[in-house]
Amino acid sequence: MRTIVNTVPVGTRAHLTYDLGEAREKFGHAAFRIRHDLVDHPLFTLGALAELAERLPQEHIEHNAGNREVVVADNDALPQAPLTPAELVRAIETRPGFVALPTTVPGVPRQPGYQELFEEILADLVPMISGGTAAIHDHHAVIFVASGGNTTPAHVDPEPSFLLHLRGVKRFSIGRYPEPATEHRELEAFYRHEGRNTPLVPVDLEHFDLAPGEALHVPPVTPHWVENGPEVAISFSIGFQTPADHRRRGVYVWNSQVRRFGLRPKAYGSSEVRDRVKGGLMQTAFEARRRLLRRPG
Ligand SMILES: [Fe+2]
Repeated sequence: MRTIVNTVPVGTRAHLTYDLGEAREKFGHAAFRIRHDLVDHPLFTLGALAELAERLPQEHIEHNAGNREVVVADNDALPQAPLTPAELVRAIETRPGFVALPTTVPGVPRQPGYQELFEEILADLVPMISGGTAAIHDHHAVIFVASGGNTTPAHVDPEPSFLLHLRGVKRFSIGRYPEPATEHRELEAFYRHEGRNTPLVPVDLEHFDLAPGEALHVPPVTPHWVENGPEVAISFSIGFQTPADHRRRGVYVWNSQVRRFGLRPKAYGSSEVRDRVKGGLMQTAFEARRRLLRRPG
């Protein structure tokens, strides 16, 4: 029988540098900083990103004419620039705007160069994740290009993510909902697909100022917003779902549905056993629906 030997020394990573002990302790529930080596990578110049914007399916690119408010009800309601995404990227040093370029998401063709980079970074993250590669599902990568002074309004994301900052400076403000009841109401609405933005300014804020070469882990469903410094900001964001994120979604969807029948379900997080049961049942239901939708005819 052949013995497989791991020839990569522990701690050697292609692009990321981080404290493994801190990362294992905080991943998924607390923000922490790491470092990366992508600042001078040629795939992240404005020219390369404008070419990427031309290649990508246009319907997958979110873009707008910029924003300075922390609370915005709906990103889709923000004014659009009278430019294509590629034109907006080329003009971003002289006019307000925001462009999100998805490099790895369902429905977007594989992007040579970006895809390999994404896979290398994901491999660098694996050691900090309980369950390793098998615990990583539904991964995605998006590049954000935004003008100086732009603000990404307060919102939540359903997955743990890592924002690798490449150009300009950014301030991440991460907090929590004012009360548990508000959190449960807001997250049930979020999982009903009523929008990622939150109408409330988060409280108990922690601020993280990011310079090029720095990265931040943003835990799932923590309300946050992002303010650019005076210059163009470019970041590469990578996210994925773990079994815990699938379970959380299942519990919130379950609670939202039974509430329609006048029941008062126990909140997510109040009982691990109950959450596992609800999450397991809903995941079975989600999977059955996915199979049904895939069936021809
Ligand atoms: Fe976010």
